[in-house]
Amino acid sequence: MIQYKDVVPWGRNLDEYTCMLDLTPSDLDLRILGCGDGPASFNVECNQRGGHVTSIDPLYYFSLETIEKRISETYHDVLNQTRAHPEKFIWGTIPSPDALGRIPMESMRRFLDSYESGRADQKYIPGELPVLPFDNQSFDIALSSHFLFLYTDNLTFDFHIASIREMLRVAKEVRIFPLLDVNARQSRYLQGVLESFQEYKLEIRKVNYEFQRGGNRMLVLEND
Ligand SMILES: C[S@@+](CC[C@H](N)C(=O)[O-])C[C@H]1O[C@@H](n2cnc3c(N)ncnc32)[C@H](O)[C@@H]1O
Repeated sequence: MIQYKDVVPWGRNLDEYTCMLDLTPSDLDLRILGCGDGPASFNVECNQRGGHVTSIDPLYYFSLETIEKRISETYHDVLNQTRAHPEKFIWGTIPSPDALGRIPMESMRRFLDSYESGRADQKYIPGELPVLPFDNQSFDIALSSHFLFLYTDNLTFDFHIASIREMLRVAKEVRIFPLLDVNARQSRYLQGVLESFQEYKLEIRKVNYEFQRGGNRMLVLEND
């Protein structure tokens, strides 16, 4: 079994976000809020191309040095647990456990290089779900990549409901990827979430990304 004591800081790049969350070129021009973007380079890469991404994460309460230390402590745990369970993953875009180390490290390095200026420009905002310090409908899309559903064993069902409700308060549309927990099983919260948000437009969409075996679907919720 893969088991994490806490939510781990790990970061993906713009190409990965684009595939996981089915972000079209016109989506990338919208006001995007990344909830739990952590040390991903999605924010800096997209904003360097003229995008409007804001990321919120409790990691941003910490200094650059502390984040760097947290990443290097976590890195070996993630790699070791992934290496121990290769059957839970599809080794395609990320061809091997060694690449699994290299690709995110490049992304996290880019994030670290952008961290201090991004914090000064309010692109990285310290904070945490289920409370977002933003006005109603101040974003077009709110994203969760590798946080909600993935950490089903660490976070409660009520936390999921409160977080998604809050994301729908600040954004017109919410996209969540993946729908699996860390052991590549469908999150036991998915059905309850679908039932709790019947008044919204809901879609489970197949996406062009699969690293966890069976993890190629995202949930889209839209305010009408
Ligand atoms: C596995 S990382 C995913 C990073 C990025 N979204 C990606 O896909 O590459 C999970 C992130 O969730 C953040 N996190 C933990 N608790 C949170 C909360 N209550 N609200 C928002 N983010 C949180 C962690 O700090 C961490 O950066």
